Amino acid sequence: EGKSTVSITVVGASGDLAKKKIFPALFALYYEGCLPEHFTIFGYARSKMTDAELRNMVSRTLTCRIDKRENCDEKMEQFLKRCFYLSGQYDSQENFADLDRKLKEHEAGRVSNRLFYLSVPPNIFIDAVRCASLSASSANGWTRVIVEKPFGRDSDSSAALTRALKQYLDEDQIFRIDHYLGKELVENLSVLRFSNLIFEPLWSRQYIRNVQLIFSEDFGTEGRGGYFDNYGIIRDIMQNHLLQILALFAMETPVSLDAEDIRNEKVKVLRSMRPLQLEDVAIAQYKSHTRGGVTYPAYKDDKAVPKDSLTPTFAAAAFFIDNARWDGVPFLMKAGKALHNRRTEIRVQFRHVPGNLYKRNIGTDLDLATNELVIRVQPDEAIYLKINNKVPGLGMRLDRSNLNLLYSARYSKEIPDAYERLLLDAIEGERRLFIRSDELDAAWSLFTPVLKELEEKKIVPEYYPYGSRGPVGAHYLAARYKVRWGDLE
Ligand code: BG6
Repeated sequence: EGKSTVSITVVGASGDLAKKKIFPALFALYYEGCLPEHFTIFGYARSKMTDAELRNMVSRTLTCRIDKRENCDEKMEQFLKRCFYLSGQYDSQENFADLDRKLKEHEAGRVSNRLFYLSVPPNIFIDAVRCASLSASSANGWTRVIVEKPFGRDSDSSAALTRALKQYLDEDQIFRIDHYLGKELVENLSVLRFSNLIFEPLWSRQYIRNVQLIFSEDFGTEGRGGYFDNYGIIRDIMQNHLLQILALFAMETPVSLDAEDIRNEKVKVLRSMRPLQLEDVAIAQYKSHTRGGVTYPAYKDDKAVPKDSLTPTFAAAAFFIDNARWDGVPFLMKAGKALHNRRTEIRVQFRHVPGNLYKRNIGTDLDLATNELVIRVQPDEAIYLKINNKVPGLGMRLDRSNLNLLYSARYSKEIPDAYERLLLDAIEGERRLFIRSDELDAAWSLFTPVLKELEEKKIVPEYYPYGSRGPVGAHYLAARYKVRWGDLE
């Protein structure tokens, strides 16, 4: 180990993601002592910048996650000294050869391991991969490339991208990131299922009525309208983040915790799912809304968004898994921007108790008395289980209470950002939390037909006010399957 070095090149270093997530995550890893002894970080982008300017830019977004942590300033200094910058074109092999020379200087004859983080728009992606692999890959160590979505916009474009990538890289060099897989509570899903006796036996159609995957944000697409309009919420959130959670939730027990075993199970369950049908989707777009004297913009107020855009900023969808475990159980997804809160959660609604002795004491709405397990991915990470309980006293009245594991109360250490976990895994060659190409294909097959249909038929979205709880279409969709959204009760 002492004789090897890791160089991390952030391609697209001046972009938002690099500034907000990648550099801060690298610093956090450095702070925690997780980076190898010999490492160098290079920023690469088109704009002209000196090392000092890059350091200055990066330093503005570095934070010590916990206030007043020891030596934080000193650590930042040390970290920044190991950050360098090179300006170059994304499609120039010559410029990447310059990078290669610079990297070699830093590697100083040690075994060279190189990680490229491609944080660039999809149209330059392949050029950058070609140039990096032809001119700047390691001669005697590993070369790995982290790629960010969008991985295409449907099955065909995604397959074309995969083919293009595979001209230059082997599958085991490609790390397709879905940052939701790096979130603490998403990683914990398997622990919850497979290390507790009391959940796994209930994890099937026999006991589960429906599963809800809910993503909401309390801000719109401000500043990202240009990107967003070409993709929409279904591609931006559902096809990747929510579907990944669903796969982990619903997969069979893997043979082991090895990356291939887990990903095999994820692919299997994705392939057992029915492609989404038009009638199982509700779409909506946010409109302007004035509240407390403040006017919040409509999606279409964004200058980069066409005035007649039909792009959904909200969608709800119902999925079914055609296998023995899940036959008939609706998996409902809901994702939206510009809603009343920011929250991601998984809700598992269990069936009614057969022959419930306490029916009389519950009232007329039996649905309200079923158990519900909620896994709140963010914010305020928590896992809680709603159970029925007797209200103390001489009468016999039932009440629903929460058995509640609130992370902030249970653990004092701060939860790492998803990007920290994923960058560390990529450096260590751990592929468990990255998307394999067959997984990606399976994910696109579920959405491609309906996306085409929505676009070809120019389906008009329902409109919901900025900051609201979303459109009624989501309720109608859930009601078709006798489901009520748990987050709105
Ligand atoms: C990204 C989407 O993948 O995830 C964004 O492109 C979204 O639209 C973001 O805002 C949400 O991530 P997080 O970690 O802030 O929940």
